Amino acid sequence: DKKIVVLISGSGSNLQAIIDSIEAGTIAGRISAVISNKADAYGLTRAQNAGIATQVLNHKQFADRAAFDQALQESIDSYQPDLVVLAGFMRILTPEFVRHYAGRLFNIHPSLLPLYKGLHTHQRALEAGDREHGCTVHFVTEELDGGPLVVQAPIPVTADDDADSLQQRVHTLEHRIYPLAVSWFCAGRLKLTDAGVVLDGEHLPPSGFR
Ligand code: GAR
Repeated sequence: DKKIVVLISGSGSNLQAIIDSIEAGTIAGRISAVISNKADAYGLTRAQNAGIATQVLNHKQFADRAAFDQALQESIDSYQPDLVVLAGFMRILTPEFVRHYAGRLFNIHPSLLPLYKGLHTHQRALEAGDREHGCTVHFVTEELDGGPLVVQAPIPVTADDDADSLQQRVHTLEHRIYPLAVSWFCAGRLKLTDAGVVLDGEHLPPSGFR
């Protein structure tokens, strides 16, 4: 089984979806630890309920971003993970950190990347009048929310949608595509190469698997 470390800052519903998939036997991996930069993140409770080790690293207790990321890296590496999963981890990571985990660092983002990198994605999709919105799992690179895409799930935007209703529907889809991407990786089916993302020996399009 592959070893996974999950980083969170909040509710951890994506963490829960991955825990559930592991327990259901659809991911050939196990979560070695869940690390949060917030002591009150509900995802820590989810991890404890599943018998997973937890750790809090409060970024405010470090002199700067580099010092925090270095401590975070040391903590993660103590578990020797095959895969590091950002699941609502709301911190920008240094290039050094990201490079260290090249090809084994995933993020999930609540938009159809490359649209709406950063925050307030649902509101921005509404304001743009988009007919379609969604979420994306991608490999993390130095460009914020800019790494190669693995899988995207679209939803239609309807006339009576607001940011909350979009967020709810997108979140539900996140809980399907994140375990899927993690299962591919853990089964050895997914690789990041110089020429892009490869799934089962085939190059994915730049938009990822849809
Ligand atoms: C998710 O919607 C995820 O896409 C988003 O935070 C939420 C975490 O929810 N991530 C980002 O915005 C990253 N910039 P969760 O804690 O319930 O999994």
